[in-house]
Amino acid sequence: MILQGENIVKQYQHDRGIINALDHVSFTVNNGDFVTVTGPSGSGKSTLLLSLFGLIRLTSGNIIFEGHRIDNISDRKLTDIRKKSVGYILQSFALIPYLTTLQNVMVPLMLEKISGKEQVKRAAEILDYIGLSDRMEHLPRELSAGQQQRVAIARSIVHKPRLIMADEPTGNLDPALSLEILEFLKKINQENKITIIMVTHSPVAAGYGTMKLHLNEGKIVIGNS
Ligand SMILES: Nc1ncnc2c1ncn2[C@@H]1O[C@H](COP(=O)(O)OP(=O)(O)O)[C@@H](O)[C@H]1O
Ligand SMILES: [Mg+2]
Repeated sequence: MILQGENIVKQYQHDRGIINALDHVSFTVNNGDFVTVTGPSGSGKSTLLLSLFGLIRLTSGNIIFEGHRIDNISDRKLTDIRKKSVGYILQSFALIPYLTTLQNVMVPLMLEKISGKEQVKRAAEILDYIGLSDRMEHLPRELSAGQQQRVAIARSIVHKPRLIMADEPTGNLDPALSLEILEFLKKINQENKITIIMVTHSPVAAGYGTMKLHLNEGKIVIGNS
């Protein structure tokens, strides 16, 4: 088991009352799972992803990562765990526009105590793996949407995280490019045993899941616990 949620509750306070964005959600993710999180708009998918590693704080409930509770630890410790163990992929690729492909991929490594030369070497290796070694000196705007998302994926795995969290990673891509990205995620999952948790509302993307969670109005309606 890599990640477990127990009775997760997240409430948002509004003028007109309280919204239960997550309403007693429980689940277990095993090492190497490819988890898909589906559900209608507003069902709590993004809230779930953001709350797992403390980007937003829970109202109540427990989160256990690799055997340790992480819902009640300091922001500093959480940041350390995120930097070491978690990679994020978002719908908007969130590349830094004035950095080259190589430099964008190096960003997570700049926080580590390794030489600049080693950073370049590791980033170049990942770009080779993902098929972009001929685009290393390009800026994001000189790349296609699919290539930009591949750079974002390279950036999310360069520090060798054990878990990748992706929120609608194919939301801005056409069907052919979406398939390409999904196949990359599958390859990363299978070859490197990196656990993936992917939010999506595409049925095709959801088909990649080896473990499926379906949310409705903040509750899990299909899943495990
Ligand atoms: N920062 C916020 N403040 C208040 N309400 C929010 C906030 N973020 C999300 N919500 C509400 O929580 C519910 C779940 O939202 P979200 O997790 O974004 O759903 P999904 O990603 O499934 O579309 C929705 O009713 C949404 O309006
Ligand atoms: Mg969302």
